[in-house]
Parts: sequence; structure tokens; C-alpha cells
Amino acid sequence: MNAVSANLIGKKYGKLQALSGISLEVGEGDIFGLIGPDGAGKTTLFRILATLILPDEGTASVCGFDVVKDYANIRKVVGYMPGRFSLYQDLTVLENLTFFASVFHTTVEENYDSVKDIYQQIEPFKNRRAGALSGGMKQKLALCCALIHEPSVLFLDEPTTGVDPVSRKEFWTMLQRLKQRGISILVSTPYMDEASLCDRIALIQNGKFLKTDTPQNIIKGFDSELWSVRSDHMSKLLSDLRLNEGVSSSFAFGDAHHVTLKNGKCNSHDLSVYLDGLKHTNVCIQKIEPNVEDCFMQLSGKNIL
Ligand SMILES: Nc1ncnc2c1ncn2[C@@H]1O[C@H](COP(=O)(O)OP(=O)(O)OP(=O)(O)O)[C@@H](O)[C@H]1O
Ligand SMILES: [Mg+2]
Repeated sequence: MNAVSANLIGKKYGKLQALSGISLEVGEGDIFGLIGPDGAGKTTLFRILATLILPDEGTASVCGFDVVKDYANIRKVVGYMPGRFSLYQDLTVLENLTFFASVFHTTVEENYDSVKDIYQQIEPFKNRRAGALSGGMKQKLALCCALIHEPSVLFLDEPTTGVDPVSRKEFWTMLQRLKQRGISILVSTPYMDEASLCDRIALIQNGKFLKTDTPQNIIKGFDSELWSVRSDHMSKLLSDLRLNEGVSSSFAFGDAHHVTLKNGKCNSHDLSVYLDGLKHTNVCIQKIEPNVEDCFMQLSGKNIL
């Protein structure tokens, strides 16, 4: 049985179609990533699966329980870490954890083992108000609160947004350990570099899945050669690249521009000659392997000029 299964889910807010035709399956013990930008529909999907709002179309189940008919059972087996405002800022670390345990009719002592690994890292601050914790510590506390009733499925909505890079890394290590304990995880993130840490991902934009697969297969599906292009004048370079008819797509990525060329119309040598002709200096054109962000850009059609 899949931990989560959704079939053609649709949801509207007034006239706005927030989700349409969403289908997904999260296998038991899998880490499934929802990767997409602001407003893509990630939180809406979590709220439907966590039984907080109803879908307009489609069906979904969590641990075999239907999100509409069996909502009470779902709440027992799911741990939900909403993106923002999940903690009570005026309560201390321990008071927050105690509160979440009591909601599920249990105690911190009774289920200590299920949060121990993570809780020990913040236990020295157990009497500090949650509002006074760093982003990384808040995130650990929120994860403990979502785990205290020993759920078999975790829903984590943008758990690493606004968290420093070291804490982000630590967080993903914690998720791997939870996976080893057999917990199934649906996690959303706007950070494309976190995609490779998931077993399977769905790229989501404007309420639709562009593609669902393993990160490796998504990268394999990138169907053009990709070039990294640099020169001494990066902003002029981007506009010059976009003026070239042989360039199929180009966008800024870190300290280089990622470029694909129209087959048969332009090759890297032609591009080099073109840029030299426009007086670009220190031009460097290198063939590179695509990453998930390149795939997202290609699939979303955003890179089409
Ligand atoms: N309660 C609501 N009423 C009206 N529109 C809403 C409501 N909640 C979300 N929306 C809209 O639905 C779309 C999807 O929003 P959602 O919050 O699900 O996206 P998201 O991927 O979680 O984005 P974010 O990165 O901002 O958290 C957005 O256009 C959003 O403005
Ligand atoms: Mg959201």
C-alpha cells in the first residue's frame, strides 16, 4: 500500500485554479519532493492531504484512508509541519512539545524515543521561548512537534525555507534517518538543489505537475546539449545571447549563463565567433551536465525566447 496516493486532484479558490489534475504516489518509506516556486500550489496540496480543506475534484488517500471520509484516522497517522506559524512563539521549547503531545493524547515521556535524536540537539534550550530560537532550532523543534505522536507519514511544507545552509544540510540528514525508520515523507521546497536528496520528485508550477520521476530520470530527460557561457560583461552577454537566432534558451544561473542552441542552426564555435564579433572578452563556453533547475526551466517553457 502506498503511503499517499492522489488521483486527479483539483482545487479552486473562487476563480483561481490552484490545483488541477494532480496525481501522485508516495511509496512506503520514500522521500517524495514537491519542487516548485511561490504560488505553485504546494501548500494547497498539503492542506488537502492533511484533511484541512476539501478537494473540488479527484480522490486521495493517506495510509489507505480517504481524505474526505476517513479524515479522523488520517490525523492520527500524519505529522504535519506547516511552512509558517506552526509553533507557539510565547511558549518555551518544552511547553510547545508538551502541548503537541497532549493534542494527540500522549506525553513527551511516553514517546521520547521517537524524537530523541532531534530533541537532544535543542534540549539545552528547553526553557527558551520558541520566538527566541534561531531559524535552524525552530525548524528542529517544529519537526519534533510533528513527530511526537509517532506518525507513519510526515508532511513537511518548505521546512528549509529561510534556514541557513548548514542547518539545511543537517535537516536533510535528519530526514534520511527518519526514512530509515520507515517513515514516509512528502516534503516541499523551492530549492532545486534539494531535489537530488529525494527518492522521487514532482516539479510543480501553476497548480500542475510538469513531471514526476526520480531526480536522475528527470535529468536524463533533458533533451538538448547544455552550455555554460561566461564573459567579462555578464549582463550584456545575456542580452546578446538572447538576440542570437541560433540560441534556443538562455538564463542566468549563479556565475554563468546556461544556454541551449538550436540544432543545425548554431554550434558552440558559431557562438564563440558571434560573441568575439561583439567585442566580448574572456569568453568561456563549456559543455555542462544539466541539473534539476535546468530541467524545470525547460519543462516550464520559461526559457523559450
Ligand atoms: N485561501 C486562499 N484563498 C485564495 N487564494 C489562495 C488561497 N490560498 C492560496 N491561494 C492561491 O492559490 C495559489 C496556490 O497557493 P499555495 O499557497 O498553495 O502555493 P505554494 O506553492 O504553497 O506557494 P508559497 O511558496 O507561496 O507557499 C496561489 O496563487 C495563491 O495565491
Ligand atoms: Mg506554501
